[in-house]
Amino acid sequence: MTKITENIVWHNHHVTQEDRAKLKEQKPCVLWFTGLSGSGKSTIANAVESLLFELGKHTYLLDGDNVRHGLNKGLSFSEEDRIENIRRVGEVSKLFCDAGMIVLTAFISPFAHDRQMVRELLKDGEFVEVFIDAPLNVCEQRDPKGLYKKARAGEIKDFTGIDSPYEKPEMPEVRVVNDGISIEEAANQVVHYLQENNYI
Ligand code: PPS
Repeated sequence: MTKITENIVWHNHHVTQEDRAKLKEQKPCVLWFTGLSGSGKSTIANAVESLLFELGKHTYLLDGDNVRHGLNKGLSFSEEDRIENIRRVGEVSKLFCDAGMIVLTAFISPFAHDRQMVRELLKDGEFVEVFIDAPLNVCEQRDPKGLYKKARAGEIKDFTGIDSPYEKPEMPEVRVVNDGISIEEAANQVVHYLQENNYI
């Protein structure tokens, strides 16, 4: 029996990623924010996007909570579904990156293996891992959505940091220690990295 993929042929397009990026004067990349729930990923990614927008850069932000309402609706927080969540987001990020954009993603993405999978999906230098490093006790104290409280009470299962693991990045491109600094300061650290490394 023929496999479906045997009859699908890759098309090369005339307009390339380089052509699209030249219009924007930016080096396309994926800013992959990772960190515990409540660490500040979404807030900082939002602030970075605003700064980039002010600089005239073309960006797109994919956020865990939002993507789980659409593309990844129905995926749970089991290990298997989290892997699928990240796999899909990785593929979508790759498309946006190919479109010439600076993509920002804000997902817990707790497994090192999955983050590595996305890194390998992209070209050299396109994956910029941004570790929002805030201690568990600080995230739990902030508890902006009241989820830690529910997890401690056993009302939510498989909650990252409580009864589901978070594997810290070993060598992220950017590590923001988000414990006592302002959102602006945190966002500036990321933008500074992009400037220093000629992305913008
Ligand atoms: S993952 O691990 O990358 O697939 O998670 P992600 O898609 O980023 O979704 C995280 C947001 O979902 C809410 N939520 C949970 N997080 C962790 N564990 C469990 N069990 C869970 N249930 C719901 C939570 O609001 C997360 O948002 P953030 O912004 O990280 O706090």
